[in-house]
Parts: sequence; structure tokens; C-alpha cells
Amino acid sequence: MKNLDSQSASEIVLFGALGDLSRRKLLPALYQLDLAGLLHPKSRILGVARTDMDIKGFSDFVETNLNEFVSEGLDSEVLDRFLSRLVYQQLDFSQSAAFKHLAQTLKQGHKTRIYYFSTPPAIYGAICDGLNQAKLISAADRVVMEKPIGDSLESSKVINDQVSRFFKENQIYRIDHYLGKETVLNLLVLRFANSLFTSNWDRNSIDHVQITVAESVGIEGRWGFYDEAGQMRDMVQNHLLQILSLMAMEPPADLSADSIRDEKLKVLKALRPINHLNIKEKTVRGQYTDGYLNGVPVPGYLAEEGANEKSSTETFVAIKAEIDNWRWSGVPFYLRTGKRMPAKHSEIVVHFKEQPHNIFKDSYSDLPANKLTIRLQPDEGVELQMMNKIPGIASQLKIHENKLDLSFSQTYRDERVIDAYERLMLEIINGNQSLFVRRDEVEQAWAWADGIIEAWESTQEKPKPYAAGSWGPVSSISLIARDDRQWVE
Ligand code: BG6
Repeated sequence: MKNLDSQSASEIVLFGALGDLSRRKLLPALYQLDLAGLLHPKSRILGVARTDMDIKGFSDFVETNLNEFVSEGLDSEVLDRFLSRLVYQQLDFSQSAAFKHLAQTLKQGHKTRIYYFSTPPAIYGAICDGLNQAKLISAADRVVMEKPIGDSLESSKVINDQVSRFFKENQIYRIDHYLGKETVLNLLVLRFANSLFTSNWDRNSIDHVQITVAESVGIEGRWGFYDEAGQMRDMVQNHLLQILSLMAMEPPADLSADSIRDEKLKVLKALRPINHLNIKEKTVRGQYTDGYLNGVPVPGYLAEEGANEKSSTETFVAIKAEIDNWRWSGVPFYLRTGKRMPAKHSEIVVHFKEQPHNIFKDSYSDLPANKLTIRLQPDEGVELQMMNKIPGIASQLKIHENKLDLSFSQTYRDERVIDAYERLMLEIINGNQSLFVRRDEVEQAWAWADGIIEAWESTQEKPKPYAAGSWGPVSSISLIARDDRQWVE
């Protein structure tokens, strides 16, 4: 075992242990930590769910899913160790009296308890009540909340209030899994470990920024959930705003959780409100119709399984976001995210300003501005587009656009790109909150998102159709073209 100096044994209690997130992400992440020697020898993993099951059943469930979701295969010794950490407790979360059974299972030892809520948020309050009644909450315990934390500022306050009756803010870990992605974490390093960007990261040097989070998948059988949410609540309010905050924030004094979160919050507070007066100019909503992905026909949103044909939920959003502060005044951040786009492809493109005067116009009339592309996924990496002289003898200088390309898979060949949940699980176990979203951030992000959602409602802004497999509705091209710019495809 290595790197365990600061870690004490923990009891990791997974509520919703048989659910999709648990089997695809949480259990594989914990297995990877065990493999890397990052789980304390005495730590246990307690699965909690409504289904009646014995430990053999749970152990088989875990093994089957690890086999399916740990792509590089399992190490038999680590697997045995991992399975020996498991405990299972059947529990009806709505019956607070039933939590006494959980208390019996948990009573041995004085380990840090980590309560991971991988259940619908509507029952977070009931789980907290049950834990409290069974005297299962102490100051050393932690609680992990998955999104969505509400569907508006008001409902998020209700959930946050329910949980904060029993847990202090320094015990609460709100997940936005994008914050655990290697490339998102790398934004801090890129910005604050490279002096090149210290003086070039503002309105004097940057023309605009594009943030695209495109997915080729549709709603993957989640009609009920997704139709209530839509892309604004599901992706923009959290993942895109977190990326934007990291890109735009002032340098934090250090890497402590509150230093980082204080700076992100200031960005969210400085976002210019979008309302019924400017909604049409600043946003585009879209909904996919049938189309083709990689040559294969796919149904439109309204023909998905379980669909209500009258739904006007958006599956695509484009926004021109503006940050009203000294650093970013006049620099738009164009956000774009959608389902059923041509590929899974997330990137940030920073467009620097053009040269004030082109002395190479004899050989290159239209000198392009530098672009910094941060590829979040897949093919993670950083790329800087620059002009270069083509070597050789000629009467005129020949120059062309080329790129410095730092591809992670090429540069760090021996390193495995870890899943976001591995990083997040480790930070929870180690008690580091810097990669988790503080309550005021969630609420500020909702306040801004609510303004947009309400404006869509009040102006009866219907989503514009776009064919599955395309880059979104034509009006999303106009959104940026109005400013004489274009999306990077
Ligand atoms: C989730 C959303 O938070 O993020 C999903 O609910 C979305 O709708 C997913 O598909 C995207 O995550 P990733 O890591 O695949 O980009």
C-alpha cells in the first residue's frame, strides 16, 4: 500500500449501489483506487439499495460489472481484496426506522463514513433524516451528492437545505464529474503554470472563446428524466458553466478548495443576465429530428422510446455568454452543447486577437489570428495554431498556418487516462473539496440558468429542429455569425 499517509480507513456507503452510476462508474473507480494502492486496507464498501439481496448476490453483481466496465481487465488478487471489502444492506430509504439496520451494519470501528447519494435527489432529505434518527452522522462524516441538485434555484435550495440540516458545508461534496476530468483539471495548470498566459489571458489579447460539448448519443433511454431537464439544466447549468468559470477566473491565491471556489463564484456572479429582452439574440434552443450518425439512421427526439410527441424540450443549446468584469469586458464566451451531434467532441478554443497590421500581405493577405485549442475529450490535448515560414528559397516569403500539438496519448504514452470518478472518489476519501461545487456556486449557476429558462418560457421560444448527426440548428450559426465570427468545426 502506498500514498495512504493522510488517509484513515473509511466506510464508503453507496446509496443506490445497484444503479447505473454505481455499476458503470463508482464501483470501477473504487476498484482502480484499490489497484493503485490508494484504498486503506481497512476501508469497506457498503452497498445500500431497496432490493433484497445477500452478500453473495452483491459480490456477484460487483464482479460482473467490474468485468464489464474495467476495460483493461481485472487483477485476480486485487479483485479478491476488493470483494472482501464489500458489505450489503437492504434498505427502504423512505422508512427512517429501517436505518437502525444500517446502524447495526456500520457499528464496528470508528471509520470516516462517506455517504454517497447515487439516488434521485428527491430522496436525499429522507436519507439524511434516516441517518440522523439512527445517530449515524458525526462531524467526521462526509456526504456526496450527485447532480441534478434541483431543477431551479428554488428547488436546489430545498435540497441543499435538507442536507445542510445535518451536514456542514465542509462535509458536503457536490459532484460535477467534469471537474474530475484530467483535461479540465489541466486548465488550472495550463493557465497558472505557464507565464505565456499570465499577461495574455484577457480582453487585450483574446477576441473570444468557444466552448463546445457535443455528444453523439441521444438520451439513452432516459426520456422521463431528460424531458423534464433538457440540455440547459442537464449540461449548461453545471458542466459548461464550470468549464467557463475555470477558464475565466482570476488566479486563486493557492489550490485550497475555498480559494478556487471563491474565484469561480466571482465569474458566475459577473455573468450578464439573459432575459426576455435579449433571449433571441443571445441563445438558440434546438431539438433533434431523425437523421444519420455514421451512416446509420437514428430516430428524432420525439420518436425516442417513451416520448411525448408534443415535447418542446431542448436537446441543443447555444449561448453567447458575457462576463461583466475588467478582464473580460467585450470578450464573448460562445457555449454550445447538444445531443446527437456528429461526434463526441468537447473542446475549448481561445481565439486571440488579430495582428494590428499585416506586413506579410504580399504572400499572405489574410493573416489568421492565433488559436489555442484545448481538447477535453476524446483525443485529449492542447494545440496552438501559429504562423510559420515555410523553409526554402523563394523571392517572396512563404508562410503558412501550422500547429504545436501536445497530444496526451502521444506525449504520455505510458499513462492511463483515468476516469473522472477515480479522481473524485480519491479526493472525497482524502477530504479535499477543491473539485466539488460549493452551495453558493450551484445557486449562482441556477440563478443565471433560470433567467434563460424563464425567458424561453415567457417568449414561448420553441426549439429549432436540427437533423441528428448535424452540428445543431442553422440559427446557431447565425448566433455567432452576427458577430462576424464562426464556430470551429
Ligand atoms: C451527464 C449528463 O451529467 O453528463 C448526460 O446527465 C451526459 O446527459 C453526460 O451524457 C456527459 O458526460 P461525459 O463524461 O460522457 O461527457
